[in-house]
Amino acid sequence: MAKTVELIIEGKSYTLPVIEGSENEMAIDISDLRDQTGYITMDIGYKNTGSTKSAITFLDGETGILRYRGYAIEELAEKSNFLEVSYLLIFGELPTQEQLAKFTHDITTHTLVHEDVKKILDGFPSSAHPMGVLSSLFCAQTAFYPESLNPNRPADGVYLSIVRSMAKMPTFAAWSYKNNVGHPVNYPDNKLDYCARFMKMMFALPAEDYETDPVIADALDKLLILHADHEQNCSTSTVRIVGSSKASIYSSISAGINALWGPLHGGANQEVIVMLEAIKNDGGNIDKWIAKAKDKNDPFRLMGFGHRVYKNFDPRAKIIKKAADDVLGKLGINDPVLEIAQKLEEIALKDPYFVERKLYPNVDFYSGIIYRALGIPVDMFTVMFAMGRLPGWIAQWRELRANNEPIGRPRQIYTGSKLKPYTAIASRKA
Ligand code: MLT
Repeated sequence: MAKTVELIIEGKSYTLPVIEGSENEMAIDISDLRDQTGYITMDIGYKNTGSTKSAITFLDGETGILRYRGYAIEELAEKSNFLEVSYLLIFGELPTQEQLAKFTHDITTHTLVHEDVKKILDGFPSSAHPMGVLSSLFCAQTAFYPESLNPNRPADGVYLSIVRSMAKMPTFAAWSYKNNVGHPVNYPDNKLDYCARFMKMMFALPAEDYETDPVIADALDKLLILHADHEQNCSTSTVRIVGSSKASIYSSISAGINALWGPLHGGANQEVIVMLEAIKNDGGNIDKWIAKAKDKNDPFRLMGFGHRVYKNFDPRAKIIKKAADDVLGKLGINDPVLEIAQKLEEIALKDPYFVERKLYPNVDFYSGIIYRALGIPVDMFTVMFAMGRLPGWIAQWRELRANNEPIGRPRQIYTGSKLKPYTAIASRKA
């Protein structure tokens, strides 16, 4: 028997269907609410509103569960690699050896970008934030591959767009950095794997036989896995609503990159390091800054703590914290900012003020510390998040299209002026 709920409005009873997910999540289906009752619901920020049904990622904020296509993030981070996880998210199942080899080969053969991309890049001043350059270069693929604009493109054409997206994102990302530092770009070295190829494009100097430390490449691969998808977060919801208008995969993901840029979303990892540096430069007086965070008259707030969905801990933060310790230990890095981070975490996990407000370290708190250890500049931290989130955005865009979901079009409650007659003010005689 399908579950239902009863809604009584102005004495009249309405029966609404209940949608039950595979992990027993419950939703009231209000698809016909306005037609039946004349009412809409209001949930500014959509924190209690489902926008879709998805088989890609499951997370449970109360118990700190995160799974991609049913696999626990802890197992994937420990045993898998980013391209295998990307295949899993995008196509729904772990690849066979042959499928992974083909996916990896196809990506490798598309790492180059059209030479005319350099003309676009040259138009950006070096002061341009890499995220703005990245979203522009990513969207520019619509110009180089206009066939991607066809919303009814056959499956093999969509596959090519997926492979091009995965292949060229690291190239665009590295080139946005080179533009930022005023250096000549490096071309992708296809003898290398995904992460080593990216690091070489980022840091190789002309005629240098640049080698990426395997410790760094492994840590980067793990970070990309941890960021690969997170159900209907701000940037993924952006990709889905843009994609719902049948916009191309490239323009939909470019919109997602811009949503991720915001300091309340992907930009938070950059803000964490800015905060830790400020504390270090102020003499490292943790108690002073903890007091500032608690002072309601002080605008300072701890960045990288708490989460909109996780109520007790962010499972990704636990994995990243261990990775941070491993990487800094293996690289022999003694980062004073890490010590400040560890003291902040220790206090936040014990101090009732933070415990009561569920302010514990989230994924952004430690990711910035690892990126620093890997030599990634602060302005590139959110670009790294975008590189990781790319397969999730692709998977969600592909699912939306496969399910032929309608264009997203939320309603509103109007609170402006009631009808008034027009009398021109500008042309009124003084
Ligand atoms: C994410 O991974 O997208 C962030 O944790 C934000 C979120 O899920 O709302």
